[in-house]
Amino acid sequence: MTIQLKDVCYSYPDTPGKRVLNINSWAVAAGEQVFVHGPSGGGKSTLLNLLSGMLQADTGEVSVLGQRLDKISSRQRDRFRADHIGYIFQQFNLIPYLDAMDNIALAHQFAKENLSSSLKDDIKSLLSSFHIAPSDWQKPVANLSIGQQQRIAIARAMINKPELLIADEPTSSLDQDNRDHFMSELMAMVAEHNTTLLFVSHDMSLAKYFNRIDALAEINTAGAGH
Ligand SMILES: Nc1ncnc2c1ncn2[C@@H]1O[C@H](COP(=O)(O)OP(=O)(O)OP(=O)(O)O)[C@@H](O)[C@H]1O
Ligand SMILES: [Mg+2]
Repeated sequence: MTIQLKDVCYSYPDTPGKRVLNINSWAVAAGEQVFVHGPSGGGKSTLLNLLSGMLQADTGEVSVLGQRLDKISSRQRDRFRADHIGYIFQQFNLIPYLDAMDNIALAHQFAKENLSSSLKDDIKSLLSSFHIAPSDWQKPVANLSIGQQQRIAIARAMINKPELLIADEPTSSLDQDNRDHFMSELMAMVAEHNTTLLFVSHDMSLAKYFNRIDALAEINTAGAGH
């Protein structure tokens, strides 16, 4: 199993009485592409932050790629995330004044000057596969189109060849055309690399890209009935 949760509870420290997540049992197998949908405030981002180790469960077992994240320190979880997990954020979180090469290299925690030539080659071939022309590789990404920026964001999430790719509403700021492009590119990429994908959104029109669709309300019983 790539993801396995058991009896997981989570409340934010500043609102300890308000249970955000209560998950008895939930699992995702290797190579699955799962769409999790739920309303705003339902706990989607909180769930993703637990799985990527940015938050730690109050109780229960959080197992990702065979590693119990509830048993290791936050520093170890940071290391684990850098080594195994790709993350695509809602607003892409590219650094606007850096170029595409540096944005992707940052995910690798190196400045471009120090990049090994093999890593440079990996980045260039990723950018090429996402149809970013070499003439655009050295421009601040703020000077590129939204469509180009979204492709760079996927490329960045994939540079470390993560076994697990997590996407938190990455298409919410895109128009319909860019959204369709983004989804096709993303699905092609994860299919090619056999990457496990966990994608959350409130937008049910995206469900058609996935063969497994889970409602957060079915997974998370916090808030249900009280
Ligand atoms: N840092 C925080 N501190 C305290 N409460 C928080 C924090 N982040 C989120 N919450 C609360 O936790 C609940 C779940 O929030 P979360 O962001 O996980 O929802 P979501 O499903 O991702 O919503 P959206 O679709 O709007 O992104 C909400 O009630 C929210 O107010
Ligand atoms: Mg969210």
